[in-house]
Amino acid sequence: MAIQRPKGTQDLLPGVVEQWQGLEEQIRKICKEYGYQEIRTPMFEATELFQRGVGETTDIVNKEMYTFLDKGDRSITLRPEGTASVCRAYVENKLYGGPQPVKLYYIGPMFRYERPQSGRFRQFHQFGVEVLGADKPMVDAEVITLVWDLYSRLGLKGLEVHVNSVGCPTCRPEHKQKLQEFLEPHKEELCKDCQSRFEKNPLRILDCKNPTCQEITQGAPTTLDVLCEDCAGHFAELKSLLTAAEVVYKVNPRLVRGLDYYRKTAFEVLVEDIGAQSAICGGGRYDGLVQEVGGPQTPGIGFAMGMERVLAALKLSKEHEDEDAKEFLMLVALGEKAQSEGFAIISRLRKKGLPVSIDLLGRSLKAQLKAADRVQAKYAAILGEEEINKGIIILRDLKLGEQEELSLKDFEEQVLKQYKEDGN
Ligand code: HAM
Repeated sequence: MAIQRPKGTQDLLPGVVEQWQGLEEQIRKICKEYGYQEIRTPMFEATELFQRGVGETTDIVNKEMYTFLDKGDRSITLRPEGTASVCRAYVENKLYGGPQPVKLYYIGPMFRYERPQSGRFRQFHQFGVEVLGADKPMVDAEVITLVWDLYSRLGLKGLEVHVNSVGCPTCRPEHKQKLQEFLEPHKEELCKDCQSRFEKNPLRILDCKNPTCQEITQGAPTTLDVLCEDCAGHFAELKSLLTAAEVVYKVNPRLVRGLDYYRKTAFEVLVEDIGAQSAICGGGRYDGLVQEVGGPQTPGIGFAMGMERVLAALKLSKEHEDEDAKEFLMLVALGEKAQSEGFAIISRLRKKGLPVSIDLLGRSLKAQLKAADRVQAKYAAILGEEEINKGIIILRDLKLGEQEELSLKDFEEQVLKQYKEDGN
């Protein structure tokens, strides 16, 4: 039997690799412009780093890590994410002793033992950014703007940026208590995972995908209800900076993220249509993480995006674009007089940027309508000698099969209007 690649992994062959190279090039370019430097950390680390960093109650640590003993009996884990490693490297290499903030980025494979499905792999690749040593909301705004900017340069469509504040050790205990009080009467109905989250980390229950848990948590108190003054001020300023930077965002009070280190800002970018896994980027602030891995108290914020998902979303945006680029109108001209009149009309509409065409072969009405169908034109405008004499033109909606007579005089203006109304 031929040996196959492990489940949830991919071979990136020539033809596809070029797309990856293109994306990586854009990433490196934008990082340079925003003043971020590359860091490369090992692909495996001591297991304890993720247990302490990512958190013992998370799915990643509980269920998804590739952990093994090496030949020296050390517990080693293939990195499931990059943030804990970057914080460890910041401490180990005493980067806190140099000029602050330290602005870093990374591109590389991550490993999670998840159930593979469309957009979800066991080896996947992240582009991530981490800023260490700066606590102002402007830093949060900068990293979110970087994501937004990258996605618009790539031409990604149908995106939603969700932001939230998950509070800090000052306000979280109050939220925890309120949430536990709210959930207490339904404790037994929660799924097994959420029952064990109830004591240790009830916030994560808000993020559970189980339909019963989702129903139970409807109307549950959110962190936004109890933010302390510091967190509330931080969040208000972040929102106004994002608005100033023209980032279109939504406040989503139920966004809690799947990792334990977040404080204050949490955000995600979602994209429609790429399948079950719609998050193409996730991130947030983690002001306690550097200390957690043995360093001095240092604020931090960052994000990571799944490159497989970004490329899938990009492919979809391009397909939509191709659809948009279809002909809007085909001018069906019958007879010499109509052809020269039609050609003049088409030329004027093209100057205004409309995707229109005219038959160049002098074909019959039937053949021309067939050609209009083939290029998937939305309308056919039919012009013959009789129409010219009457000063009219027939506009046929090819999808609906309906037609109307328009005055030749107003025709171009009406077509232009229709084109704009169709969202062009
Ligand atoms: P995360 O939300 O676990 O956050 O992952 C970030 C992104 O990686 C996701 O939004 C998704 O696009 C992609 N991703 C995650 N798991 C998979 C998978 N199994 N297959 C394909 N793509 C996947 C983190 O990893 C944090 N370290 C982000 C961060 C950086 N927070 C602060 N700094």
